[in-house]
Amino acid sequence: MENKIFIIGIGPGSSEYLTKKAIDTVKSSDYTVGSTRAIELFDNINNKIAFNVKDLLDKLKKGVDLAIEGNSVSILSTGDPGFSGVLNTVLRIASEKNFPKEKIEVIPGISSLQLAAARNHIQWDNANIMTFHGRENTEDILEVINNSKTTIALPSKKVKDMAQFLLDNGISESRKVVVCERLSYDDEKIVESTLKDIANSEFTYMCIMIIY
Ligand SMILES: C[S@@+](CC[C@H](N)C(=O)[O-])C[C@H]1O[C@@H](n2cnc3c(N)ncnc32)[C@H](O)[C@@H]1O
Repeated sequence: MENKIFIIGIGPGSSEYLTKKAIDTVKSSDYTVGSTRAIELFDNINNKIAFNVKDLLDKLKKGVDLAIEGNSVSILSTGDPGFSGVLNTVLRIASEKNFPKEKIEVIPGISSLQLAAARNHIQWDNANIMTFHGRENTEDILEVINNSKTTIALPSKKVKDMAQFLLDNGISESRKVVVCERLSYDDEKIVESTLKDIANSEFTYMCIMIIY
């Protein structure tokens, strides 16, 4: 295959939500860069370059360098690359290294946000969509939280901290909240409760919060 970068959404985690396009593209790429968890979803990968949180940037740069050297490179992103994914980071690295944008193709995936909306029968075009992933400042949520729409949010760190932040800012402790944890995995959990109870509960980092 010609030198190209594919930024591929792999869905929320289970292989059931992988697209055929993602599978075929990875299979025919010279190299694939992704988290260990993402790489494990695919059976046929030519050259795997696994990253963790600490060396993510270095491995993405390596992926771009390999494409500059003439290889086709798939870069895996959980959910959809354009929603709190690696899209902007890869575009920035590629631009810094003068790799042409025309040779970068984005292959969308099913976002965890979409699956959370589907599980809860939410028409999400009418929801407040917020992501606080990797952000310290969560003030923005206060601007929309009382606008009568449902809010679907990727929390910044812990779900309980996000809930406590809302309580501290005067949101009613009886407000209905649904936490969708580890969507699509065998141990998926959907917990419906009040803001107060959620602020006193423990969840893993892999959660979507829905605030009604
Ligand atoms: C780096 S962001 C990636 C989001 C991804 N691009 C998407 O479209 O779903 C990681 C955050 O997404 C959410 N997330 C990703 N996969 C999830 C899943 N299977 N279940 C629940 N939340 C998930 C969690 O909030 C997690 O901390």
